[in-house]
Amino acid sequence: MNRIQIEISLGVIFILLTGGIILWYGINEEDRMAEFTRGQAASAIEVGAALYETNCKDCHGPQGEGVPGLCPPLNDKYFFTERVDEVGWSGTIEDYIVATVSSGRLTSTRPDRYAGQGRPAMPPWAESYGGPLREDQIRNIAAFIMNWQATAPDRSQEPVMAGPPVGTDITVELPEGNPALGEGLATTKGCAGCHISQAIGPGWAASGSVPGVGARAETRYSAADYTGQATSAQQYLLESIVNPNAYVVEGYAANLMPQNYGETLTAQEAADLIAYMLSLK
Ligand code: HEC
Ligand code: HEC
Repeated sequence: MNRIQIEISLGVIFILLTGGIILWYGINEEDRMAEFTRGQAASAIEVGAALYETNCKDCHGPQGEGVPGLCPPLNDKYFFTERVDEVGWSGTIEDYIVATVSSGRLTSTRPDRYAGQGRPAMPPWAESYGGPLREDQIRNIAAFIMNWQATAPDRSQEPVMAGPPVGTDITVELPEGNPALGEGLATTKGCAGCHISQAIGPGWAASGSVPGVGARAETRYSAADYTGQATSAQQYLLESIVNPNAYVVEGYAANLMPQNYGETLTAQEAADLIAYMLSLK
């Protein structure tokens, strides 16, 4: 082989190699595109999760479980399978989430179950409706909520209670309460959404010159303007839970607090909640 022949052979080999690499790249292009799309979807869900945590969890629950009496669950089989038909929405559930969240809900569609914190039931979230979030942020939150679809539990069954309901007689003798368990119940029974993380009902912790709910309960039942039947701090707290309208705290609206805790809490749960509230002086 002379020099020219060697150069030609090298050239041919080079061209074949480049072609091969391009071909190999092309064959894998679809995989890489899919990988890229998956990556983008994953980061949309992550961004959405963080936005949900700051803006939505106090009302709809950290895991989308809802707050009884306040907000519907979103991590919920009924929500994903039947809700759009019920409200007559013809688009996808994801678009329903984007639309509802963007414009908010002026009045609750189920005022008997989710009264919201007054008017509007849910504030608008999109900047175009005067809310705080951009459109892409709301899309990300919708992606995060859609992420629950595959495993959303059926919440239509009332949770099985660990014992008979405490009822509405405030002179009933309660078992000894455990404040640590009460603190957990404040979240799982929805109290925290109105009394701790948001100021929909009177705050429980002491704040400035206002003492905590435990200290307020000590004096409330003997105050001149008290309208209920309690004769002790414990009875006052039980009455506030099972018959909230017996005495409505000044500055707050009646009927906002769920009226049926007497049917959904056991005596032990009520005692635990009361022990926790009494510890907040
Ligand atoms: C102040 C409490 C509150 C906050 C905060 C809140 N919501 Fe809502 N949300 C509600 C209420 C109340 C409803 C209406 C219930 C009804 O109409 O039955 C609702 C309805 C919805 C619905 C429609 C549910 C259905 O079953 O039709 C979606 C979706 C939703 N909210 C998502 C969100 C997202 C996402 C956020 C955070 C950006 C958020 N919400 C923040 C109170 C709230
Ligand atoms: C949907 C919102 C909401 C939820 C959920 C809620 N509350 Fe309330 N709560 C209120 C409002 C509003 C008031 C003030 C009006 C009144 O006195 O009924 C109130 C009042 C009270 C009071 C009297 C407070 C005081 O300072 O004297 C107690 C005690 C209380 N709630 C306990 C509970 C407990 C325990 C739970 C959970 C088992 C709970 N609440 C769930 C809204 C709520």
